[in-house]
Amino acid sequence: NAAGRHPPTVFRGTFVHSTQEEALVILEDALLGVDSTGKISFVEKGPELEKVSAKFGFNPSAVTQLSPQEFFMPGLVDTHIHAAQYSFAGTALDLPLLDWLQTYTFPVESRYSDLEFARQVYTHVVKRTLRNGTTTACYFATIHTDASLLLGEIANDFGQRALVGKVCMDRNGLHEHYKEETQESLDETSRFISELIKRKYPLVKPVVTPRFSVSCTSELMLKLAEVARNNNLHIQSHISENMDEVRLVQELFPESESYTDVYRKHNLLTSKTIMAHGCYLSDEELQIFHQTGSSLAHCPNSNLSLCSGLLDVRKVLSHKVKLGLGTDVAGGYSPSMLDAVRRTRDTSKALKIQDPVHQTLTWEETFRLATLGGSQALSMDDQTGNFVVGKDFDALRVNVAAPNGDDRNILEVYVAGRKVVPL
Ligand code: GUN
Ligand code: FE
Repeated sequence: NAAGRHPPTVFRGTFVHSTQEEALVILEDALLGVDSTGKISFVEKGPELEKVSAKFGFNPSAVTQLSPQEFFMPGLVDTHIHAAQYSFAGTALDLPLLDWLQTYTFPVESRYSDLEFARQVYTHVVKRTLRNGTTTACYFATIHTDASLLLGEIANDFGQRALVGKVCMDRNGLHEHYKEETQESLDETSRFISELIKRKYPLVKPVVTPRFSVSCTSELMLKLAEVARNNNLHIQSHISENMDEVRLVQELFPESESYTDVYRKHNLLTSKTIMAHGCYLSDEELQIFHQTGSSLAHCPNSNLSLCSGLLDVRKVLSHKVKLGLGTDVAGGYSPSMLDAVRRTRDTSKALKIQDPVHQTLTWEETFRLATLGGSQALSMDDQTGNFVVGKDFDALRVNVAAPNGDDRNILEVYVAGRKVVPL
């Protein structure tokens, strides 16, 4: 009995999750135990309660019984969200990407030198995403180290699993208002990483975050790759989101064969790299993603809202590239991963309208992308993503009887066995 002296917390009812083999697995009348460290200690058949309770040392009358209208599903994984942009989510979607960054985004992000402003917005975004079932979030903050640390602190306080990135950008920002010097960006990244690691938050980790090739010099990217390698850290950035951006990157790096080649040449494509968008990647580029083990974050709301493009997820998956879903707030207007699931299906259907032989993503496949797929894309599937013994219990208790189809159907949210919603 690996749970030790504490009896496990035990739930009985329907559990829905995904595996590598099957996009949707429904376990009816199952028993799931969570040990005192938040890990799943067993998944067994409900009718065998007596036997299971004797084996795992719990009182059968202490089991939490779900109603027939409820089920548990794995927590949703938002593989790409800009916490700092939450303050203007739902507005300012009338310009294409590069103009949108200069006109709306950089001016807002420059305000995060103000820690009080940062505390307000970051508290709201962590609470809102948790409430909507995001148990793991991969965040971009801003260039400000102290505000980025505050985001890590707030995620830890509310119990959300998070990767947090202090954004790096040493060119093409807002003159005087929102950009860094190369050395400053590197020094502040080191300070961010060492300070965040020192705090020992169990579920919050730093992620090395060059914003994208347009706003990072060659020197900065090379040195950030070294920082990531020396500390065995995740890397996140953006790639091939919009046609103007792809052309600009080709002009900035004329010696590179492709946008993907730029990142590869700067050692930024690792098995712990997650790149957002990828709408215009060629087959050759997707092969590089496959070879390096790097992942894509599909952000369909953002791709539609900024008229960036339609990512062909089917093509990405056929190259065996890991892919998760992201809200990309505030290029995407919704912080809800349920919205990301719906927009993923919409995009897939739009591709079918253009090309009737296109094989749309099924809702079961999309459910998997939002849970296990995201966990795999963030290289966290040894710990999260589905209900496998030994993984952390990250889960949503869903009530299908509520006639809403939104966060009101989520009764409870658990991260590593801890109930984080309702607060
Ligand atoms: N590319 C570089 N920065 C950003 C950003 O903040 N949002 C989006 N959608 N794309 C980007
Ligand atoms: Fe983004």
